[in-house]
Order: sequence, then structure tokens, then C-alpha cells
Amino acid sequence: MEIENLLSKSFNWRFEREKSIDKDFEAIRLFAGQSDGIEGMLIEQYGELILTSLYNSKLSKYTERFLEFLNSYFPNKTILIKARDENTKGKFIYSNNEKYNIDAILNCVENGLKYEIHTDPRHDYGLYLDTKAARNYLRDNCKNKNVLNLFSYTCAFGIVAMKGAAKSVTNIDPNKEYLEWGQHSADLNQIQFKKYPDTAQAYLARHSRRLESGKDSPYDIIVVDPPAFLVGRGPNRLARNLWPTWMKGLKDSGCHEFIIIINDKSLGRQNDLSDFFKKGLGENIEIIPIKQSFDVIGQEINNSDDPFYFNPAIFSITKYD
Ligand SMILES: C[S@@+](CC[C@H](N)C(=O)[O-])C[C@H]1O[C@@H](n2cnc3c(N)ncnc32)[C@H](O)[C@@H]1O
Repeated sequence: MEIENLLSKSFNWRFEREKSIDKDFEAIRLFAGQSDGIEGMLIEQYGELILTSLYNSKLSKYTERFLEFLNSYFPNKTILIKARDENTKGKFIYSNNEKYNIDAILNCVENGLKYEIHTDPRHDYGLYLDTKAARNYLRDNCKNKNVLNLFSYTCAFGIVAMKGAAKSVTNIDPNKEYLEWGQHSADLNQIQFKKYPDTAQAYLARHSRRLESGKDSPYDIIVVDPPAFLVGRGPNRLARNLWPTWMKGLKDSGCHEFIIIINDKSLGRQNDLSDFFKKGLGENIEIIPIKQSFDVIGQEINNSDDPFYFNPAIFSITKYD
């Protein structure tokens, strides 16, 4: 099948399936790599922005062709293609249509909630579609709970939690710019939450001291979504070196419910992380994998295991002691 036919079939199929969505503003994955027939190719719509990621460097030679097709399918949208460079392999090269403005601030909608989208790829775009299942889970399980959102980035979990009737939400991220961005999305949805610029490890250590002196109460649910690579250099750049510290902080936090998202391939696969969690949180835990959201968006072959794109593994973990 011609690439263009494959892509329009996939887009039409998704839009048809998701008839109730607002086509112009929805955040939706439109093409899911290997599952949809092209290994390493993801296409995501963030409202007016159509982002194509080509993780397989062999695809970069088709960039112009993809751009032309996307321009004709989405004549009014901003199109950005991020392609892994065939020569340097690791680097990405960006191409765009004439509607693209690197400083633009857009909006998109997911499940009726609004998010502010920035088009500058240095910071990603403000919402990660591969954690939609975790957002849905949190929204449905946070009523009247005090939620701590660690590694909050632009506070997407904080927004769904407040809309899911959480009692309170506290967002933690060392990057003030991301927290400010999260505040804009909160304002779009007329919700209020707390946000503090800090690292997870420093915040958890302070929380633990404050628990001892009675100044803090344990959270009811903690969301943990660290990147695989942190800011900094050397060993401190690798999240896997900090997991023992984060786990200790979570264990000491007095909290019994966690949503943990593993973005780090080096930690293992979804089905063999049980020892990792038991070592960190204790033996007496129940681990429930949260199914990825791609079947919500829909696809014919339900296989998101694309070697060119690591989809995070998402868990709900309850601690019994
Ligand atoms: C994968 S993003 C998190 C995505 C976010 N949970 C969401 O749903 O959009 C990783 C975030 O972790 C933050 N970060 C990096 N190192 C951190 C640390 N030590 N403690 C807390 N946050 C950190 C980064 O600034 C970035 O915003």
C-alpha cells in the first residue's frame, strides 16, 4: 500500500471511531508506528499542531513526501516533522510547513480538559499522549484524595486530578518554567493546585522530616513519572541511579497508593519489574499494570511494542502495611 493511503486510512479510521471528539482541538495519536504499519513512525495531533516523529532514521528520506501529504490532509494545521538523522543517527532534524512558528502557544483538548501547547521542540509540547491511560486512571481514582504529582512537567496529572475531584494536588518539578506553563493550563480549566519548584528527592526528604514533626500529613496518592535522563552530568544524569533514593522517599512517605510510570528501558520490561518495586517499596505490595491508551484511540493490531519507540510502562501500586 502507498504510504499516503496507509496514513489517510489510519487518520480516517481514528476520526471515525472517535466521532465525539472535537477534531480541530483534540490531542490524539493518529498513527502508532509498527502497530499501524510503519515501524518508528508516530503522528500525534495536539489541536492545531500535527507532530510527526520518525524514530527510524531510514524513514528520514521520506520527510518531504510526508510533509506534502500532511499539508494536503490538514491544510489549516501547523505541521512539524522530527526525523532521526540518517548520518548522525542520534540527532533529530526538524522540518515544518509555513504555518509553523517556533514561539506559538496553542491549545488542545483531551477528555474535555484544555492544555497549553508550545511548539518549540526543545521542551516537548506540554502533553505526553503515551500516558493518557495513567491520566484516565488517576482521574477515576482520586476523588477526595490528596495527590502529590512528582516530576510534574506541565502539571497534566495535576489537572486531571483536580477535575477528578481530588481534595488537593501538589505538583513538584525543578523547572519553574514548566510549572508556570502548567499554571496556564490550570487557568484554562479554572482549577487551582499547589506547585513547588524542587527535585523529587529534595521534596520527599523534606516531606519526611515534616511528617515526623507533624507539619505534613501523608498524601493519599503519589504520581511518579521520572524521565530516563535527568539534567546534569555523569552518573547523576541517569535516573536509574536515583531510583533507590526516590523509592526510599516513597516508602517513608506514609502513602499507600502510587501511580508509577517507567520511562527507562534499562530498568526492564513491564512483566519483570515486580522485584524492582518490591525491593524499593517492600514485599507487601500489589502491582497492577495500567493498560496503555492506544486501544482507546484504536488500532487494528494491538501491539505497541515498537523497537524504535519505547512506550512507558504504567503501574498502579498499593502498599499494605
Ligand atoms: C517525563 S517528564 C514528566 C511528564 C509529566 N509527568 C507529564 O505527565 O507530563 C519529566 C520531568 O521531570 C522533571 N525532572 C527532572 N529531574 C527531576 C527530579 N530530580 N525531580 C523532579 N523532577 C525532575 C523534568 O523537569 C521534567 O519536567
